[in-house]
Amino acid sequence: MEHRFDELEQAIKTAVLDTAEAVERFRIQYLGQKQGQIKRLMKQIKDIPPEGRKTFGLKVNALKECVEGRLTEAKEHLGSQRTADGPAIDLTLPGRRPLAGSLHPLTQTRREIERIFGQYGFTVEEGPEIEDDWHNFTALNFPPDHPARDMQDTFFLETPSPDQEKVLLRTHTSPVQVRVMKEQPPPIRVIVPGRVYRNESISYKSYCLFHQVEGLYVDEGVSLADLKQVLHAFARAIFGEDVQMRFRPSFFPFTEPSAEVDIWWPLPDHPEGGRWMEILGCGMVDPNVLDNVGIDSERYTGYAFGMGIERIAMLRYGISDIRTLYENDIRFLDQF
Ligand code: PHE
Repeated sequence: MEHRFDELEQAIKTAVLDTAEAVERFRIQYLGQKQGQIKRLMKQIKDIPPEGRKTFGLKVNALKECVEGRLTEAKEHLGSQRTADGPAIDLTLPGRRPLAGSLHPLTQTRREIERIFGQYGFTVEEGPEIEDDWHNFTALNFPPDHPARDMQDTFFLETPSPDQEKVLLRTHTSPVQVRVMKEQPPPIRVIVPGRVYRNESISYKSYCLFHQVEGLYVDEGVSLADLKQVLHAFARAIFGEDVQMRFRPSFFPFTEPSAEVDIWWPLPDHPEGGRWMEILGCGMVDPNVLDNVGIDSERYTGYAFGMGIERIAMLRYGISDIRTLYENDIRFLDQF
């Protein structure tokens, strides 16, 4: 029996299958319902003594798979060749366009922001997404019991021992202000794009992770007028000349005075024709922050801002739900 299996396997592997007829003959020879050799072997299984039945069955199956493999391969080969009726490929079909990728709307928006501030003389800096409490809060003048430090807003990471400094996912790009100011003396003019994390409830305009671009300008004689001027110019550059924008007083521990900027979002279905959407927080760098990083607050002043890239992308492209930016649905991404 043993050598018969070997012989069969050899025959299956070497059969010449160069025409449709040869393939069909091969199929009938091995898999034909009545006389097919594999079928015949299968029928014999019940007559094999029980101790050898399993091995026998496995071998028959292996042969069957070998036959099927050769059939598929031969059919594929023949299919790609000319047949008597003409080429198997329809050469008159219109071509298929190659699928071209495109940049994610957030990447496009981030690059546009970098380009605009690049024109105003800002250079790009980066900082770590895993931060310590000092850079994210303390150096930025957050009081020890400030609600932003709360578990509800901040994703804290486990630290090996409780007396070590807390480590967290940065809740904003502002800690990079601290890093930059500690490293380079004024004049400083940087923007910092990056990812930030907040343990907030998710909605059409908030997500647990998002992107910000921080801006920082520190020099002698920097004023609130400079801040307003640069943000107005930016809004016109990114949203167009007729953008409607408003400055609203606000509060941040690390700026004084502080403001938020809203952009009018026209929505045809909205009863008021649209709504204001907050895109950034800003203000004059608090002297305490300058002192914390060793910059003479008597001599230097500065402004800072932090804008949400998602919100800006939503306004630019008319995206009504922030979550679509994270679903990676190709039908959505294809539109940009
Ligand atoms: N870091 C603030 C936030 O995430 C925004 C901000 C940046 C405000 C810089 C003032 C100055 O909400």
